[in-house]
Order: sequence, then structure tokens, then C-alpha cells
Amino acid sequence: MPDAYILGIESSCDETAAAVVRSGEQVVSNVVASQIATHQPYGGVVPELASREHLRAIVPVVRKALTDAQHTYSSVDAIAVTQGPGLAGALLVGISYAKALAFALDKPLIAVNHLEGHIHAVLLEERQKGNHELQFPVLALVVSGGHTHLYLAEQKNESWTYQNIGHTRDDAAGEAFDKVAKLLGLGYPGGPVIDRLAAHGDPKAVKFPPSQIKHRDRRDRKAAEPGDDRLRFDFSYSGIKTAVLRYIETHEMQAACEVRRKALVSISRPNLEDYLAHCDRLTLDLVASFQRAIVDDLVGKTLAAAQAYDIATLFVTGGVAANNELRHTFEREAAKEGLPVFFPSRPLSTDNAAMIAAAAYPKFLAKDFAPMDFSAEASLVLR
Ligand code: KG4
Ligand code: ZN
Repeated sequence: MPDAYILGIESSCDETAAAVVRSGEQVVSNVVASQIATHQPYGGVVPELASREHLRAIVPVVRKALTDAQHTYSSVDAIAVTQGPGLAGALLVGISYAKALAFALDKPLIAVNHLEGHIHAVLLEERQKGNHELQFPVLALVVSGGHTHLYLAEQKNESWTYQNIGHTRDDAAGEAFDKVAKLLGLGYPGGPVIDRLAAHGDPKAVKFPPSQIKHRDRRDRKAAEPGDDRLRFDFSYSGIKTAVLRYIETHEMQAACEVRRKALVSISRPNLEDYLAHCDRLTLDLVASFQRAIVDDLVGKTLAAAQAYDIATLFVTGGVAANNELRHTFEREAAKEGLPVFFPSRPLSTDNAAMIAAAAYPKFLAKDFAPMDFSAEASLVLR
């Protein structure tokens, strides 16, 4: 089989990204234009602004990905694009551009699920390191701003299928990081800031009760009742976010949070020293304890699922997989059980298009191409 060079395009949220990947195993170029500066003043992603920024960035980002890869529009073998899940207006920018390119260049068009992309980020980098042997069953934790989902991943010939065995009932883990950072006046996105600040606080200072799932899943009518084994692998992070809010209120920290927020927005690119200069001990301890609670819950539930399904290989991927404490805790705890755990490198943990081009490769081999009239699906399910 000759090499296939796939141009990947990703625009599901607040990053406009394009990449060229060779045969699902080598990142030839990888360009990510972040919109953080645009959304920062609002403390979160503003969908209309995201679409506008994607429109601005898509052409230069794709052009740079091709130039960096020493490719041209006509020398790539296929165009892959994120179909969903994500913000509909944002997805549409990438999809419309990918369709136009595929039509004009007469190239195959491949629609990719963003979550499958996160899983293939791990596979891509393992292959790149020369690791082509994968032990099944594989369990993948996709933990990002929009998802905290556990999938059993299977490969039959070239195609991959996925079975969801757990998901968040409310906030995703990344969303909890972002909301807590906002409450504390630490800005957006919250994950990377909390990651760095947590190392300066005491993770045992504030006790958070373990997250509990008491209600039936409203989105899944066939879901089990409380007490059933199936509930063990679902997640819930809105309770811990509320506990942080209560802590802020009972310790009368609101005014200090507002002072911190104003001070930090006035600094164009705050560094760790700037953040530390504006955080007292109470705040640092709260941040460290919050992160520890989330990490312990993610690791505990994922390893319980791994045991229940007799898993041979664990993947941890998505934006929150960039978190230092999450990585160390997974590595330490999985090693105790002799379970190999793989993460993407940090640049491929958060949103990028190399993962989209990598996930498209098996579909390219299977000639699983998208029709020209396919549309964005904001709530696309991974199967
Ligand atoms: O995968 P991603 O880039 O976009 C989505 O698909 O959502 O994930 C973004 C999320 C954000 O919530 C961000 O705060 C979180 O990942 N994140 C982190 C870290 N880096 C990004 N969370 C914890 N620690 C980090 N180092
Ligand atoms: Zn993502």
C-alpha cells in the first residue's frame, strides 16, 4: 500500500487547526490557531465569536499546514474534517471549506468524529514511536472540555468501533476546571492554570465528598437504576463545582476573586509568577484540593472499569489528559495493576487536526467517504 497523505481540518470549538498526516502514523505538519485571546474577556467560549474567528483563520491555517508539510492542495490524497460533536456554527466553517476543497480538487472527503480523533491521537503517536503492537481489549478515557467518556475500542480489519461504557451526567471534567477557574477569577481556559497553580497548594487542605450519582440518566431511558453495576462508570462533576462555590462563599473569598480577575485581565499574557502573586494560601489550597478530587475520581472510576472489562491497554486522551497530576496518578495507579497506559503528547492532547487526519486513515483504506451533502452534527455520537 503506497503512503497516503491526508489533510485534516478541525474547527469544532475554539481552535482552528489543520495538519498533514502520513498513513495514520507520521505527523508531517500540525498547525493550531488558538482563539483564547478572543474568548478570554468573556470567561468562556462565545459560539458566534468562535465561528467568526474560524472564518478568519481557516484559509491561512490550511495553507500553512500544506506549506509546512511541503505539500500542495493537489498533492494530498484526501481531505478529512471534523463532523461533530461541537459547536454547529464552528463545525460548519471547517466542513464547508473541506467540501469546497474536495469538490474543486476532486479528492475524497472523510467525515471524522472529534472523539474518535482524540482516541487516534494516541494511536498515531504510538505508531510514530514504532509501537505497532496493541493489546486488546482497549479502554479509552476521553476527557475534555465537553466530554468525560469511557469507550471500549475494537478494531476489525481496518475499521474501528466503539462502545460507550460510561459518561458524565452533567459537567465534563474540563468544564469543571474552567468553571472553577472562572469562580476564582483565574481566567479562561481554567485547566492549564489550575494545573500549574495546584503544585503550590496543599491537596489535602479541603475535603470534597466523593461524587455521587443518585439519579437515573435522563438521556438514557434504558439506563440502570441506582445500585446497578452500570452506574459505576458514570461521572458527575457539577457537585464539586458547587462545593467550591460554597467554600468561596463561606470563607468570604468573593471580593478577593474579583480583585484577582481584574488584575489578571490587565496583564496580556500572565505567567506563573503573575498568577502566584495574586493567589493567597487559601486559594492555592482550594485549587490543589479541587484538582486532587477530580483526578482521584477520574482515575478511580477508569481503573474500576478497566478491571471489570479485563482491559489490556488504557488510553487517556483529550484536553484534560495534558494535566500533570492526572498523568502521574494514572501512571502510578495503572502500574500497580500492571496495566499499560498511553497518553498523547501534550500538543496532541488538546484539540488539533493531526488526530482528525489520523482517524481518517482507516476510513480512507476502507473507502468510507462522506457524501458532499453531509452536515455538521453538534451532538454526534461515537459508535
Ligand atoms: O480536547 P480539548 O482541547 O477541547 C474539547 O474537545 O473540549 O479540551 C479542552 C479542555 C478545557 O476544558 C481545558 O481547561 C482542559 O481541556 N485542559 C486542561 C489542561 N489543559 C487543557 N485541564 C486540566 N489540566 C490541563 N493541563
Ligand atoms: Zn477535543
